[in-house]
Amino acid sequence: MKTRTLLLAALGLALAAGPARAETRSYSLPDETAAFRPGPGVEAAEANCSLCHSADYIGTQPPHRGAAFWSAEVQKMIRTYHAPVEQADVQAIVDYLSRTY
Ligand code: HEC
Repeated sequence: MKTRTLLLAALGLALAAGPARAETRSYSLPDETAAFRPGPGVEAAEANCSLCHSADYIGTQPPHRGAAFWSAEVQKMIRTYHAPVEQADVQAIVDYLSRTY
């Protein structure tokens, strides 16, 4: 009996609180600050490498890692993370990254 009274009281409170109102909220996000460094081939990198993460992921790698590192990195994005990179763009991206970063 006690439990039922409590349940009814809880129900009463819930009803008194009224239906939840859905409000539309809008947020303005800050502009993306990370950009690919300019250089030959930057278009290929922008087109293929900005789908999932920002250019920060590239810019924060230790500098002067060379073509072998960047080639492995691009292959990892394709094989492990299924990045839809055009095969024709792979070499241009690797050249751009090893030259520019
Ligand atoms: C399909 C999504 C996707 C695309 C497209 C993509 N990446 Fe990534 N990338 C990831 C994920 C997932 C990680 C790992 C994130 C983590 O560990 O927090 C990552 C991490 C990285 C890192 C950090 C080092 C590492 O190996 O974790 C680098 C550098 C990088 N990506 C470069 C690239 C380049 C260059 C391209 C374009 C060829 C690219 N990514 C395109 C998903 C993607």
